[in-house]
Amino acid sequence: MTTVTVVGAQWGDEGKGKITDYFAEKSEFIVRFQGGNNAGHTIVIGEEEYKLHLIPSGILRSDKNAVIGNGVVVDPKVLLEEINKLKDRGIDADNLVLSDRAHLIMPYHLAMDELEERLKKGFSAGTTKKGIGPCYSDKVARFGIRVTDLYNPEVLKDKLSVIVPIKNKIFKGLGEDIEFGIEDIFEEYLEYGQKLKRYVYDTSVILYDAYQEDKNILFEGAQGTHLDIDHGVYPYGTSSNTVSAGSSIGTGLGPKFIDEVIGVTKAYTSRVGTGPFPTELKDETGKHLQERGKEFGTTTGRPRRCGWLDMVMVKFSVKVNSLTSIALTKLDVLEGLKEVKVCTHYRYEGEDIHHSPADIEKLSDVEPIYRTFKGWDNIDWDKIPEKGYDHLPEEVKEYIQFIEDETKIPVDLISIGPKREQTIER
Ligand code: GDP
Ligand code: IMO
Ligand code: MG
Repeated sequence: MTTVTVVGAQWGDEGKGKITDYFAEKSEFIVRFQGGNNAGHTIVIGEEEYKLHLIPSGILRSDKNAVIGNGVVVDPKVLLEEINKLKDRGIDADNLVLSDRAHLIMPYHLAMDELEERLKKGFSAGTTKKGIGPCYSDKVARFGIRVTDLYNPEVLKDKLSVIVPIKNKIFKGLGEDIEFGIEDIFEEYLEYGQKLKRYVYDTSVILYDAYQEDKNILFEGAQGTHLDIDHGVYPYGTSSNTVSAGSSIGTGLGPKFIDEVIGVTKAYTSRVGTGPFPTELKDETGKHLQERGKEFGTTTGRPRRCGWLDMVMVKFSVKVNSLTSIALTKLDVLEGLKEVKVCTHYRYEGEDIHHSPADIEKLSDVEPIYRTFKGWDNIDWDKIPEKGYDHLPEEVKEYIQFIEDETKIPVDLISIGPKREQTIER
């Protein structure tokens, strides 16, 4: 049995949904541990495309258990909608469990996300406006509402009676014409609680029991390493620990239980939102990546900024996540380019640097230094998964070899299209 954590090695949208679904075949439990419905994970099965935001990607395999851990922030309205949408497509969520310790996204979090984005001006991260940051803020301030509160009306009412007037005062003080009613939220959330009751458990107990029974457990990361609240491009990232350590904190299963950590790495880089992006391409090549890679946000529909693969970022991910292997995705998207570049390090004020500076202004000013590879074209990708890795053209293998040499870990899985079968195992 193995316990595997899948994380994004870059800025999100690396293809975690597809890779999680791939590994889910061999796992009994698929677990989200952080983030919320800011995530958008796409899985393509045959002609059907599924976009999941809160529910773990394992839900698409009927014999698997999908778990939403304590570290996730849950908008109960969105969760119920997602359950219903899946039902409409013939997928039941009977095997879903939701942690009783997860924090709830409240209506005032959504309003605050919207407002803070406006007030922050140049420091705005271009959030998904799903209330993620304000909900995590309240969690850390010990001002949050948890799933378990939905089953204790007295506590829920007490908490709302304190919190809602304070939130209203803040909105008013900031000149906003917003006022939330204690009673309205109380009734609305009690109803969500009743609808979600059948899914609610102490998920850390379920997971530890599963571990003891030798079940395979898969942790599905959301967002990416460089959006992490501690290790990412602060303040332009998200509000949770997206790195592999988050899978222990966000589920209650300690770090020693995790055997493998897979870093999902796009063969180039994309970013949705604001902040510095050293290898960004604002030219025809950037357009090639965006169009061929269909780089438009799964959650917000925003066009994603695109650029070359950045080894400074990926090598940092190897370290901070203790990655054991890489799943390289969207390699097919690079096809048709005369040359393909990879950033090996940065130059800042005439000096070579191999780590991202903490100072965001410095990071905005670094010059990426590239190694150039010969491009590739006219590849019959469909035949390769069956024939095997060796049938990849030499130029492609050279690119992959370079990534392995730089990171010192194997690229064990290569994705060459959105579908399950468009995957090369090594
Ligand atoms: P996630 O947030 O990391 O799960 O990634 P998203 O689902 O937001 O974005 C990845 C997009 O790329 C989705 O539309 C996937 O269907 C698609 N995709 C995943 N792997 C590949 C691949 O190897 N090649 C191509 N062309 N598309 C892929
Ligand atoms: P998946 O799981 C890409 C970005 C937002 C913004 C910043 C903060 O699909 O890879 P937030 O709403 O979290 O407060 O926004 O983080 N962001 C993502 N970018 N993929 C995601 O998720 C993201 N989730 C958040 O664009 O810059
Ligand atoms: Mg996504």
